[in-house]
Amino acid sequence: MAASFYFSSTSMAIVSELIFLVVVSVGITNAQLSADFYSSTCPNLISTVQPVVQSAINEEARMGASLLRLFFHDCFVNGCDGSILLDNTSSFTGEKTAKPNNGSLRGFEVIDEIKASVEQACPGVVSCADIIAITARDSVVALGGPTWNVLLGRRDAKTASLSAANNDIPPPSSSLSALISSFQNHGLSTTDLVALSGGHTIGQARCTSFKPHIYNDTNIDDSFAQTRRSNCPATTGSEDNNLAPLDLQTPTHFDNKYYNNLVNTKGLLHSDQQLFSGGSTNALVQTYNSNPSQFTKDFVAGMINMGNIQPLTGSNGEIRTNCRKTN
Ligand code: HEM
Ligand SMILES: *[C@@H]1O[C@H](CO)[C@@H](O)[C@H](O)[C@H]1NC(C)=O
Ligand SMILES: *[C@@H]1O[C@H](CO)[C@@H](O)[C@H](O)[C@H]1NC(C)=O
Ligand SMILES: *[C@@H]1O[C@H](CO)[C@@H](O)[C@H](O)[C@H]1NC(C)=O
Repeated sequence: MAASFYFSSTSMAIVSELIFLVVVSVGITNAQLSADFYSSTCPNLISTVQPVVQSAINEEARMGASLLRLFFHDCFVNGCDGSILLDNTSSFTGEKTAKPNNGSLRGFEVIDEIKASVEQACPGVVSCADIIAITARDSVVALGGPTWNVLLGRRDAKTASLSAANNDIPPPSSSLSALISSFQNHGLSTTDLVALSGGHTIGQARCTSFKPHIYNDTNIDDSFAQTRRSNCPATTGSEDNNLAPLDLQTPTHFDNKYYNNLVNTKGLLHSDQQLFSGGSTNALVQTYNSNPSQFTKDFVAGMINMGNIQPLTGSNGEIRTNCRKTN
């Protein structure tokens, strides 16, 4: 009895050791990022970035939204590696003219300004990928949203991929199942999808992005659709660039009103309203509408999870001097 007890608890110990090793190695990419990564090499990093973000947002509140979106479009294309910032070169085409980005993605000059300040404080130390991550957090905070400790230690890609930018960022025409798959393909859960879509509590979209929803969908409030149609004709033309707020209630304030719009069928994008159209995510939308602190908690967790997508670490990649160019 004693011997067999001893034997089985030893086997149990071996089994749990193996499980531990598997868990540790699966989590290894995440474990390499840390909040204090630059604490000795660039101790003033956070206080160098924040005022530049704040003054850009003071000048134009929408810039906070644009900077948050940069992080999403960086991370979904071969990981959070600053590839979104690279201009065309003779060896690759940048991501800026990909369909989801062209004529729409903004904030590159603000990132340049932040990078210049950071290079002055700590030359050659801080990656552009990490600057995007800190800037996204500071933007959310500046517009009244939650704060969190940003995990750092990403390095910058030496290449970019136009085709990955075209394929890996979900379009606004996506169905709920396509959105769930896209996030799942990036290691993100359905909860991350619903919480991170709350990023649409700030910022603007072009007529071309919401036109099919306001003319052809049925799960949309009639008077809301009428209002949006008045500035977005069904025909193709220069008005395709006309803007409307993603959150009709408080477009420059980071809050949970986005979910209130959805439960009232006043989501601007087809993809937004998909989250509350009778599918599996309805209940979570209702939770975030009635419980802002649950939204805050899940949004922060989602931002950390998104920031953990395939970072380049160790000796992979480089620390770019100019965010627009490889060294
Ligand atoms: C779930 C899938 C998503 C889709 C289909 C989507 C799609 C879009 C589209 C079509 C626009 C408007 C672009 C334009 O017309 O110029 C937009 C804007 C925006 N997106 Fe998303 N998005 C998604 C997820 C996210 C996530 C995860 C975030 C960040 C957490 C985010 C943040 C933003 C912000 C802040 C804007 C406004 C940017 C500005 O005003 O410059 N989006 N998105
Ligand atoms: C980058 O290359 C793409 C594809 O060839 C092109 O459409 C775009 O205009 C180029 N961008 C710049 C700034 O030259
Ligand atoms: C990008 O947008 C500009 C106008 O904003 C347009 O002239 C150009 O053709 C677009 N490029 C691509 C590759 O779609
Ligand atoms: C609405 O749907 C019809 C039929 O599929 C299509 O021809 C039309 O272009 C769509 N309109 C918009 C504004 O998307």
